[in-house]
Amino acid sequence: MALNIILLGPPGAGKGTQAARLVAKRGMVQMSTGDMLREAVKAETPVGQQVKAVMAAGELVSDAIVSALIGERLDQEDGKGAIFDGYPRTQAQAEALDLLLAERGRRLAYVIELEVDEAALVERIVGRFTCAQCGAGYHDSFAQPAVQGTCDICGAHEFKRRPDDNEATVRTRMAEYRAKTAPILPYYEARGLVRRVDGMADMDEVSRGIAAVLDG
Ligand code: AP5
Ligand code: MG
Repeated sequence: MALNIILLGPPGAGKGTQAARLVAKRGMVQMSTGDMLREAVKAETPVGQQVKAVMAAGELVSDAIVSALIGERLDQEDGKGAIFDGYPRTQAQAEALDLLLAERGRRLAYVIELEVDEAALVERIVGRFTCAQCGAGYHDSFAQPAVQGTCDICGAHEFKRRPDDNEATVRTRMAEYRAKTAPILPYYEARGLVRRVDGMADMDEVSRGIAAVLDG
């Protein structure tokens, strides 16, 4: 049966990095509300116009907007299991997700918490960049392209950085995580769904930890 999982962790914990690997290895579908919102901002849709300033400030956008995006994506998805990346982020979103899944006869298999040391996260985030063409993720110190200035995946030469990846905004994003997102863990703990993986290990080790949960 297709496994639906949540990757939970603060900004820079490695949710997007590990989700991309699960997509490549297992054909699961990544559902990143951050990516969906950035696409909406880029396309200047009504939702994009509404959320642009909130995202730039590092605050959370409204529960209704993100839950609607996830509902739409669940209806398009092809059934190999969903990876929720950056969603849910509040108790209301956690409850909305349960409903969205139940309405479709699906349920959560695991909530994988990437445990990280906050002090290291600012460095991870301010050093992050992606290929402007295919979106492959890189890092100034931890994951440079094999050939400097050329994307390993598609060969493009242009890269971009997120407007919210500066130190001041990262601090706000972390405060939002502590205040609103970390408190949803007990909701899942009570159902025995939480598994913890050391997010400070190198990326391959983190992937092995996640695989051990999914295959275990
Ligand atoms: P979102 O896009 O979800 O950002 P985030 O949660 O702040 O998380 P990041 O994407 O920054 O980190 P990540 O865990 O994906 O780390 P990554 O793998 O890139 O949200 C952005 C904004 O959108 C929010 O602030 C909010 O405004 C809005 N939003 C989104 N969802 C919302 C919701 N549900 N409700 C309300 N508002 C919402 O890794 C980071 C870097 O570290 C990379 O460069 C990577 O190469 C490197 N790295 C990764 N793993 C390792 C490792 N093991 N060792 C060394 N380096 C590593
Ligand atoms: Mg991400």
